[in-house]
Order: sequence, then structure tokens, then C-alpha cells
Amino acid sequence: MSELIKGRLWQVLGFLMLIFLAVALPATPVQAQENCLQCHGDQQTKIERSEHSFLSCTSCHTGITGYPHPPGAALNKKESVATCTSCHKGQVTDSYARSFHGKAVHLGSEKSASCADCHGFHDILGPNSSGSKVAKQNIPETCASCHGKASPGFAEGEDHYELKPGGSGAPMYYTGKFFIWLTLIIITALVIHIELQLFHNLRTILRERKEVTNRGQ
Ligand code: HEC
Ligand code: HEC
Ligand code: HEC
Ligand code: HEC
Ligand code: HEC
Repeated sequence: MSELIKGRLWQVLGFLMLIFLAVALPATPVQAQENCLQCHGDQQTKIERSEHSFLSCTSCHTGITGYPHPPGAALNKKESVATCTSCHKGQVTDSYARSFHGKAVHLGSEKSASCADCHGFHDILGPNSSGSKVAKQNIPETCASCHGKASPGFAEGEDHYELKPGGSGAPMYYTGKFFIWLTLIIITALVIHIELQLFHNLRTILRERKEVTNRGQ
């Protein structure tokens, strides 16, 4: 008899245990990270040494929660740029959006440079760390991965220049202003031209009408 009660007791305890696990286990960020590391453990050291050591895998891979991964788990360039931009809004992302690379990626290019192509993705370091892909001495090599043998000076320009009259963005600033004014002047001239043409036509029509009525009298 007491054996039976003991058995029941264990059943109840087991059941309570199951409920406890079901409540406690749903993935907290830390566990999500551990889950990723079961299979992608090699990525962790890179992240830890990077500027993003405080991020979890799913800060960037927002669409992935476990395995098997959903279709489209790999980020294309546009999505990867959107991921960086979600946290880095401001001058770097504005200048990127204006750049040749940014425009091409926005239009769907998979060849042009995303943020990650210049900065890396798990091993990102700031420009002042010597190991960074964008440290001054490493920039030529970073560009060369796509631009082949670049001529000296190719990688000299600043990549995130500000559009303002002084500094490295000045040529782009004045070129932009020039084209805006050129467009305005051309459109104004065109409108004046069309108006004059219409006025001329109207005058001709009125004159002809007047001549007809004059003749009629
Ligand atoms: C059970 C093992 C396993 C777990 C757990 C796992 N992955 Fe994966 N992951 C893989 C395999 C295998 C691939 C190779 C492509 C595939 O099968 O989808 C992969 C591919 C990827 C890719 C690249 C996608 C591609 O096709 O290039 C990313 C990004 C990724 N995993 C992120 C994560 C993240 C983030 C987590 C945690 C939330 C995670 N993985 C958890 C096994 C796993
Ligand atoms: C700062 C954002 C960021 C963080 C944090 C991050 N990743 Fe990634 N990861 C990327 C980008 C960008 C790519 C390149 C595009 C792609 O392949 O999806 C990438 C690619 C991958 C790939 C594809 C394999 C490869 O080498 O091309 C795997 C697997 C992966 N990440 C797993 C992880 C895991 C696991 C973590 C956490 C330890 C993690 N990522 C943290 C941004 C990040
Ligand atoms: C063509 C290569 C290239 C691309 C693409 C690129 N960067 Fe950069 N980035 C650089 C270089 C080189 C530097 C170093 C200083 C500079 O030129 O401004 C840098 C610097 C930075 C810095 C540090 C700024 C500072 O003053 O400390 C951040 C943050 C950054 N980039 C984020 C991004 C993000 C986010 C994107 C995408 C939206 C991006 N970068 C796209 C090359 C690039
Ligand atoms: C979840 C938010 C988040 C995401 C996503 C993210 N970053 Fe960051 N990143 C940060 C924070 C916070 C810092 C540290 C503070 C700072 O310097 O801006 C940082 C630092 C950096 C730095 C060093 C800046 C410096 O001046 O030293 C670079 C470069 C950088 N991130 C590039 C990227 C790129 C490229 C991506 C996309 C692959 C990306 N980040 C995705 C939040 C993020
Ligand atoms: C992931 C590949 C990739 C990387 C890395 C890359 N670019 Fe580009 N870049 C391209 C592509 C693709 C184009 C457009 C077509 C072309 O010129 O081949 C382009 C176009 C350009 C252009 C405008 C068009 C031209 O050919 O004059 C400049 C300037 C440029 N890149 C500079 C740089 C610099 C500087 C770096 C390094 C900081 C760099 N790129 C890194 C792929 C890349």
C-alpha cells in the first residue's frame, strides 16, 4: 500500500518537475547564444575580441532562433547593411547610403561593398586598432579584395566623409550643389521657353481671328 503511495508521489513530483522545466526553459538570450554555440562555437572567440563583444548572436541574426534554420537565414548584402544600420544611424550610414557602394547594394548588387565587406562581420574592430580591416595601413588590402591592384592613392580618400564645405567631403559637396543649381537653371529656362512659345502661338491665333472678323465686316 505505502509502495503505491510512494509511486504516486514520484509521479506527482515528476509532473511538477516537467511543469517547472517547461516554464523555466524557453530561450532567454543567454540560452539562445549557448544554442548557437553548440554548432557555431568557433564564432564566439571572434565576437569576444571584437567591438561587439557585448552582443548576442541574435542581435544581428534576428531571424534565427534554433535549428533547422528558416529559409533565407543567410543575410544578403542589403539585409546585412540594414542590420548594421539598425544600431549605427548617423554620419557613417548616411555617407554610405550616398556612396557608389551604398547605392549599388540598395539596388540589389551582391558584388558591391556592404558594411561587412569593409569591416568584417564577427571580427569588427574600430579604425584605431591595428588589426582592424579599416586601420589606415590595412585599407588598401581591404579595397584590393575587390578592386584588384588599385593604383596608389585609390584607397586614400575618407570613406565616411561629411558633406560640408570644408574637409574631405568638399568636392562632393560642391559637385552636388553645382548639379542642383544646374538642374534648377535648366528647368527654369525650359519653362520660360515653353511659356514664350505658347504666348507666341496665342498671339498668332488672336491675330488671325481678328483678320477673319475684319474681312467679314
Ligand atoms: C544543431 C546545430 C545548429 C544550431 C544549434 C545553430 N546552427 Fe546555425 N547553422 C548550422 C548549419 C549546419 C548551418 C549550415 C547551413 C544550414 O544547414 O542551414 C548553419 C548556418 C548558419 C548561418 C549561415 C546561413 C547560411 O546559409 O550561410 C547562420 C547565420 C547561422 N547558422 C546562425 C545561427 C544562430 C544565430 C544560431 C542560434 C540562434 C544557430 N545558427 C544555431 C547548424 C546550427
Ligand atoms: C555584429 C553583427 C553580428 C553578430 C553579433 C553575429 N553575427 Fe554572424 N554574421 C553577421 C554577418 C553580417 C554575417 C555575414 C552575412 C551572412 O552570411 O549571413 C554573418 C555570418 C554568420 C555565419 C555564416 C558563416 C560565415 O562564416 O560566413 C554564421 C554561421 C554566423 N554568422 C553565426 C553567428 C554566431 C553563432 C554568432 C554569435 C556567437 C554571430 N554570428 C554573431 C553578423 C553578426
Ligand atoms: C568601402 C569600405 C567601407 C564601407 C562599405 C563601410 N565602411 Fe565604415 N569605415 C571604412 C573606413 C576605411 C573607416 C575608417 C575611417 C574613415 O574612413 O571614416 C570606417 C569607419 C567606420 C566607423 C568608425 C567611425 C569612427 O569615426 O570611429 C564605423 C562605426 C563604421 N565605419 C560603420 C560602417 C557602417 C555601419 C557601414 C555600412 C552602413 C560602413 N561602415 C560601410 C570603410 C567602409
Ligand atoms: C545591436 C546593435 C549593433 C549592431 C547590429 C551592430 N553594431 Fe557596431 N557597434 C555597436 C555599439 C554599441 C558599438 C560601440 C559603440 C560605438 O563605438 O559606436 C559598436 C561599435 C562598432 C564599430 C567600432 C566603432 C569605433 O569607432 O571604434 C564598428 C566599426 C562597427 N560597430 C561596425 C558595425 C557593422 C559593420 C555592423 C554590421 C555588420 C554593426 N556594427 C552592427 C552596436 C551595434
Ligand atoms: C565587396 C567588394 C568591394 C570592396 C571590398 C570595395 N569595393 Fe569599391 N566597388 C565595388 C564594386 C562592385 C563597384 C562598382 C563596379 C566597379 O567599379 O567594379 C565599386 C565601385 C567603387 C568606386 C566607384 C566606381 C569606380 O570604379 O571608380 C570607388 C571609388 C570605390 N569602389 C572605392 C573603394 C574603396 C576606396 C574601397 C576600400 C575602402 C572599396 N571600394 C572596397 C566593390 C567593392
